[in-house]
Amino acid sequence: MGGCGHVGLPLAIAFADRGLEVGIYDIDSHAVEVVSAGQLPFLEKDAQPMLRRALDAGTLAATTDPEIIARADNVVVVIGTPVDEHLNPNPHAVARALRSSREHFRDGQMLVLRSTVYPGVTRNVERLFADQGLDVDVAFCPERIVEGRAMEELFSLPQIVAGRSQGVRDRAAKLFGHLTGQIVELEPEEAELAKLLTNNWRYIKFAAANQFFVMANDHGLDYDKIRRALAQDYPRAADMPGAGFAAGPCLFKDTMQLAAFTDNAYVLGHSAMLVNEGLPLYVVTQLERKHDLAQMRVGILGMAFKGESDDIRSSLSYKLKRILEFRAREVVCTDPYVTVDDSLVDLETVQATSDLLIIATPHKVYAELTPTQPVVDVWNMLGNGTTV
Ligand SMILES: NC(=O)c1ccc[n+]([C@@H]2O[C@H](COP(=O)([O-])OP(=O)(O)OC[C@H]3O[C@@H](n4cnc5c(N)ncnc54)[C@H](O)[C@@H]3O)[C@@H](O)[C@H]2O)c1
Repeated sequence: MGGCGHVGLPLAIAFADRGLEVGIYDIDSHAVEVVSAGQLPFLEKDAQPMLRRALDAGTLAATTDPEIIARADNVVVVIGTPVDEHLNPNPHAVARALRSSREHFRDGQMLVLRSTVYPGVTRNVERLFADQGLDVDVAFCPERIVEGRAMEELFSLPQIVAGRSQGVRDRAAKLFGHLTGQIVELEPEEAELAKLLTNNWRYIKFAAANQFFVMANDHGLDYDKIRRALAQDYPRAADMPGAGFAAGPCLFKDTMQLAAFTDNAYVLGHSAMLVNEGLPLYVVTQLERKHDLAQMRVGILGMAFKGESDDIRSSLSYKLKRILEFRAREVVCTDPYVTVDDSLVDLETVQATSDLLIIATPHKVYAELTPTQPVVDVWNMLGNGTTV
């Protein structure tokens, strides 16, 4: 369920590649059409030839008909689990999706929750099936790939499998054993938290780097130069990230999920959110100190939430754009990969017509630029430092 999404599709392709018979059920008819035609609805390295191979071999098929669920021994749920506009998680999203397909489930199936869920959702799903008198094994096996490298990481990362009994864990381990020999067993509540902690850890690390960047920058110092120096041949600081616009569809919302889980007493998580989400405004405010922004046309390079991606979900480039639309004379945006935003123009136009450039997404192509106007480069892609 949700098999045409960023997580579902690579997983479906990976299972099919390992010889399993895979049926994708998704409510998005356009995505189903695209996938059935052997195309990817989004960028995912090396996935397209594997998708075509699986379609040709007849081991993979996509449909909008939930009846396909009844034919499966194992049903994997990979629907989106976003937070709402008030940053509340929706612990009912998965149960609602399952209820709407209720008549297609049958005794003896295994339901694997692969979506990142609010802690307690696995227990609720177990109860849901029990209340319906259905004997379905429920497992929670979180997805931990990074978008863009799924086809490599699905076969190389250990798979966490969780279930209420050893029997369920064994069954889930057998399924994911088709991808890797490394299986890590946990209880469902432990695994739910393990997934959230993984993303929160990464989000907090990015926030630490962004706070250090702001601190150094406020004193006229270049954070990236300092970071490189302190990390050189010094293993304990080797993982200190560079500054950058850190958001995307997972890190931010999973930090907010954990905040809700701790009754909003998650000081570190909320602080990380303020630092990361505050970076676009900080950059613009710094620019206003040096430039008459209200008279300038500003070009934003990169609208995806991360480099070499076409995914704009929760991208801070759009937050930056909104701030600049209010404070600058004009804003023009470009991205070599994003196809879902008609307002974007090509890189040459942005370069030729902007008074100022901001590299918002570290797409590799921007490292080759030799701009004549001032550039904000918090990623230090051009090697000229990060100072704003
Ligand atoms: N994107 C990532 O890198 C990533 C990594 C790890 C975990 N996750 C988690 O995986 C889950 C899915 O994320 P995603 O990025 O793939 O989301 P997505 O929006 O790309 O995909 C979700 C898919 O589910 C489909 N869908 C929604 N409701 C449905 C329903 N009731 N029945 C059938 N299909 C339905 C949608 O049409 C869509 O194709 C989320 O919980 C997310 O937090 C994402």
